[in-house]
Amino acid sequence: MAKWILPVVIMAILGRAPTTELTKECKITENKMGNGDQLMCSNVTTYFFRKYTVSLDKTYLISCGNCTLPTIDENTFPFENNHVNILYLVKSQIRMLKKSAFSRFSSLRVLVLRHNNIDNVDSKSFSSIKRLIQLDLSHNNIKIVINDLFSELEVLDILDLNRNNIFYLQPQAFNGLINLKYLYLNDNSLSKLEDKTFRYLINLKILHIQNNNILEIHPLAFVNLKNLNFLYLNNNSINYLVQYNFQPLSSLVDLQLRFNKIQEIQTSSFNGLKSLRNLLLRDNELKSIKRYGFVGLNSLEILDLANNSFQNFSLDVVTDDMNKLSILWLGKNFINNLTIDYKSDLHKSLHYLDLSDNNLSIVNYKLLHNKFPSMKEIYFSNNSLGCDIMVNMYNFFKKENITVCYTEDCKRNSTTHFMTRICKEESLRENNNDITTEYTIKGSTISLRSNWTIFMILFSFNFLECT
Ligand SMILES: *[C@@H]1O[C@H](CO)[C@@H](O)[C@H](O)[C@H]1NC(C)=O
Ligand SMILES: *[C@@H]1O[C@H](CO)[C@@H](O)[C@H](O)[C@H]1NC(C)=O
Ligand SMILES: *[C@@H]1O[C@H](CO)[C@@H](O)[C@H](O)[C@H]1NC(C)=O
Ligand SMILES: *[C@@H]1O[C@H](CO)[C@@H](O)[C@H](O)[C@H]1NC(C)=O
Ligand SMILES: *[C@@H]1O[C@H](CO)[C@@H](O)[C@H](O)[C@H]1NC(C)=O
Ligand SMILES: *[C@@H]1O[C@H](CO)[C@@H](O)[C@H](O)[C@H]1NC(C)=O
Ligand SMILES: *[C@@H]1O[C@H](CO)[C@@H](O)[C@H](O)[C@H]1NC(C)=O
Ligand SMILES: *[C@@H]1O[C@H](CO)[C@@H](O)[C@H](O)[C@H]1NC(C)=O
Ligand SMILES: *[C@@H]1O[C@H](CO)[C@@H](O)[C@H](O)[C@H]1NC(C)=O
Ligand SMILES: *[C@@H]1O[C@H](CO)[C@@H](O)[C@H](O)[C@H]1NC(C)=O
Ligand SMILES: *[C@@H]1O[C@H](CO)[C@@H](O)[C@H](O)[C@H]1NC(C)=O
Repeated sequence: MAKWILPVVIMAILGRAPTTELTKECKITENKMGNGDQLMCSNVTTYFFRKYTVSLDKTYLISCGNCTLPTIDENTFPFENNHVNILYLVKSQIRMLKKSAFSRFSSLRVLVLRHNNIDNVDSKSFSSIKRLIQLDLSHNNIKIVINDLFSELEVLDILDLNRNNIFYLQPQAFNGLINLKYLYLNDNSLSKLEDKTFRYLINLKILHIQNNNILEIHPLAFVNLKNLNFLYLNNNSINYLVQYNFQPLSSLVDLQLRFNKIQEIQTSSFNGLKSLRNLLLRDNELKSIKRYGFVGLNSLEILDLANNSFQNFSLDVVTDDMNKLSILWLGKNFINNLTIDYKSDLHKSLHYLDLSDNNLSIVNYKLLHNKFPSMKEIYFSNNSLGCDIMVNMYNFFKKENITVCYTEDCKRNSTTHFMTRICKEESLRENNNDITTEYTIKGSTISLRSNWTIFMILFSFNFLECT
């Protein structure tokens, strides 16, 4: 022990040096911000801390990386009267947290235990650290979050449980976390969200439960989360949303359900989400939307339904009360039948409509314009539109100062080039039944074969182009 007590004594005599080596493994660094010293160790064992006698009066941070601390109990850190605020114990082979493991650190604000093998946690592990604000347990091996584990952490703000093997949250798992704002449960093995699981988290703002295996969400799963703003459920196995499931989430702004297996939107699935601005349902298997499927989404601005399996799509899902909806993503579906009820009301907020990568050969563009008169840009690249409709629609929207795109880059020039090409190809196909392959169409004689009809069509948009 004398080995590292000596340099400290020297330090005391010579005045405080910025960095002092205690041993080969540990050093004390004075923090430039003036909030105290940092004790930084690596590759030490539990034994080291048991025998540690240097005063921690001025130490606000202790860090141990690559250490060997298999079990942490109330004697692991036998420090009296310290003011340590931050404790980092990363990559230190921790497997077990016992009762009162950190109870000597009564001033602790931040506790980082990531990249260990923690799989055994006593329900009193976090007792006596009532001032804790951040707890990072990510990259461990926790399987069940037991009742009352965090019940003394009344001011905890951030709880990170990412990358464990959590498959079950006991009913009182989050008891006491009345001030928690951020909860991370990404990359775990949850298959359901149970009845009122989050009921204690009345101040939660952000909830991440991505990359799990959630199939089932209990109708009352989100009870009490009235302050939640962001809910991320991407990359799970959700195939069904029950009615009013999200109803308690009256402050939710962003709901992300990408990469799930939802096939149908039920009536009132999202009812109650009166603050929601962004709804991501892309990368699912959606084929249909029941009547009133999106009812209640009065603040919605962006609705993303791209990369689903729609064939028939009715734009009447955009209801009158969705009067803030500005962007509708419908690309990468199989839509060949886009319908609009001519009796439905005007919808004045929609500015952008993406229908690229679908299978449209006809579009009632006049009705589209009537119903959505504030449109600014419409994307149609990679559909099955023919020359006539493309040119007519282009000219129609041009008069209304609406941009219509037939190519991915959406440049005026490439759009007109693309139309010209399609029209020439069509003309060739119609006039030369023997020339059907693209190869011959791309031959050098295209201009000679253009006929008068095509010329007129091309002339009409070239003319508009110039005005
Ligand atoms: C860690 O300590 C052990 C002995 O306790 C030693 O064998 C090993 O080389 C040390 N590793 C490093 C990276 O210092
Ligand atoms: C832990 O060990 C790895 C590799 O031996 C090294 O890169 C890393 O800096 C060490 N971390 C700490 C906190 O000592
Ligand atoms: C989705 O989650 C699985 C684990 O459930 C993971 O292996 C995969 O990488 C995730 N995919 C994405 C795109 O994040
Ligand atoms: C589209 O969604 C499927 C899952 O439904 C996914 O595998 C694929 O990667 C997605 N495509 C893109 C471009 O994101
Ligand atoms: C599209 O609508 C037609 C007519 O209502 C129906 O016969 C067809 O099954 C629908 N296609 C899909 C994929 O729902
Ligand atoms: C496109 O629609 C046609 C019918 O209009 C259908 O025969 C064809 O299979 C569809 N193609 C794709 C890729 O969905
Ligand atoms: C297109 O959809 C409408 C309403 O969804 C349906 O009445 C019509 O039959 C469908 N047309 C085709 C060709 O599937
Ligand atoms: C065009 O859409 C079809 C399916 O509708 C898809 O298979 C193809 O990859 C798309 N092409 C491009 C260039 O995106
Ligand atoms: C389109 O824009 C031009 C010039 O910016 C303007 O004179 C014209 O009135 C606009 N047309 C419509 C239908 O808004
Ligand atoms: C449009 O394309 C033509 C031919 O490719 C080119 O000469 C012209 O400069 C382009 N104009 C613009 C504005 O990009
Ligand atoms: C030009 O093409 C149209 C169809 O696009 C065809 O009906 C007409 O006969 C063609 N005219 C000539 C002179 O080939």
